[in-house]
Amino acid sequence: MNVVWLNRFGPGKYILDQRCDICDCSERFCERMFFRFNHPVSHAKQNRRRSRSELGSSKSPVTPVASIRPSSHVNEEVIDALNSVITTPFETSFISRLQGTKSAWSPAPVAVDWDTISPWMRLMSEVRQHFALASGDSVLDHSMESDAPIIYTTLQPEHLPQVHDLLERVFWSGIDVSDSMDYVPEKATIVATYKKLVVGIAILSSPLETYITYLAVKAGWDKAQIAKNMLYHLISRNPKKDITLHVSANNSAMLLYNQFGFKAEEFVVGFYDDYLDPLSRASKNAFKLRLRQ
Ligand SMILES: CC(C)(COP(=O)(O)OP(=O)(O)OC[C@H]1O[C@@H](n2cnc3c(N)ncnc32)[C@H](O)[C@@H]1OP(=O)(O)O)[C@@H](O)C(=O)NCCC(=O)NCCS
Repeated sequence: MNVVWLNRFGPGKYILDQRCDICDCSERFCERMFFRFNHPVSHAKQNRRRSRSELGSSKSPVTPVASIRPSSHVNEEVIDALNSVITTPFETSFISRLQGTKSAWSPAPVAVDWDTISPWMRLMSEVRQHFALASGDSVLDHSMESDAPIIYTTLQPEHLPQVHDLLERVFWSGIDVSDSMDYVPEKATIVATYKKLVVGIAILSSPLETYITYLAVKAGWDKAQIAKNMLYHLISRNPKKDITLHVSANNSAMLLYNQFGFKAEEFVVGFYDDYLDPLSRASKNAFKLRLRQ
């Protein structure tokens, strides 16, 4: 039955056989949304009390949920394994798919270089341009290859396989610098990376000895000032300490060390006899250089 009724907001329409949507009562003044805020508090409380007592009675309108009985076929090992999972490792988590698998706790970079274009980067860019021209694409598709800086950072365990590979190619086999992780790597190591590729490494034996054991740049990434930058950061992290090294007598790296002010203080005959291949063109004799600070 519809009843036209005048209220203080103007004419409102009532449908008396509808129920109140607040307290489920059938009072006329609370049947319409329009009067929700007019619903008397005492009336609402009364209805809440009534519904609570109804819940307790045998005529309860709530259908009880059937209790879940544990299956007799539960594999205890599976349950134990599930209970032992505390958290998902970052490398296999969904967030790593969004953010990349680089671990969230990587150290802050020592330096980020967006300007340097190494011979390898230039070559790859030319290959892509050539491909685009050859395949008739006037617009290069950059979505496949994103620009990235050369990042200088300190040695991390995940760098070690690539570092060992680089040092083996440049010097000799069997080099293992894993123990550098034990000697304050923040002061004694600098790694140059491009995306996930290790392109250069500079290592001091320890912050106490400050003897440069290895300095190397990956083929294709040389002559782009990477060694110079690594040396600069290594020296600046060890101020007020003399830095020493040995360099093969005919190694052009002498020019690099000269730029930093290293001076020869000793000529050691046969220094590399035990390391270098007998057929190597590198001199087995070495200069010992020192940078006084
Ligand atoms: C030596 C080495 C680390 C240099 O790396 P790099 O990144 O090419 O060096 P950089 O581009 O930073 O060069 C800086 C300076 O060093 C000098 N230099 C380095 N390599 C040179 C070379 N082959 N010939 C002439 N000068 C050279 C240059 O004066 C250069 O300065 P410039 O470019 O302003 O003229 C790299 O060639 C290498 O890994 N060599 C094999 C390993 C090795 O011999 N390590 C040294 C052991 S002590």
